[in-house]
Amino acid sequence: MRENNKKLFNNAAQTWNHGFFWQSMTPTPQGDLQGDLKLAIEKAFGSLQAFREQFVAQGVGHFASGWVWLVSDKSGAVKLVDLHDADTPIVEIGTVPLLVCDVWEHAYYIDYRNERPKFVTTFVEKLANWRFAEAQYDAARKGETGWQFPT
Ligand SMILES: [Fe+2]
Repeated sequence: MRENNKKLFNNAAQTWNHGFFWQSMTPTPQGDLQGDLKLAIEKAFGSLQAFREQFVAQGVGHFASGWVWLVSDKSGAVKLVDLHDADTPIVEIGTVPLLVCDVWEHAYYIDYRNERPKFVTTFVEKLANWRFAEAQYDAARKGETGWQFPT
């Protein structure tokens, strides 16, 4: 569908991406990551602080509109990917998204004006719903798809 019907893909994927984005945030700061996901991130990035720095760098460095995703494969290996426009990691078989930050300008312009670094830093330090990401990580390692868009 991504290539055959780009308009339909863009609308469907952006709906799904935003649904996932709402799950990725919480009004109550949750402190740091815990459990197996914390260990996987420390293994991949060296430390939680290094992960947060990489997350911000990737969000700030992403040219134009898109998304910064923390994803996992079935083996539990995690990585950050930034995707353009409506692209979404769920089209990649075996990839399960754990958390996402919307870096389209509309996501932050009202509160942060053009200060994307301030928005992405606030996202990763205060808004990120780590309990949701941890639940997604458990699903990924079980071979499950995790969160589904409500029907
Ligand atoms: Fe958005």
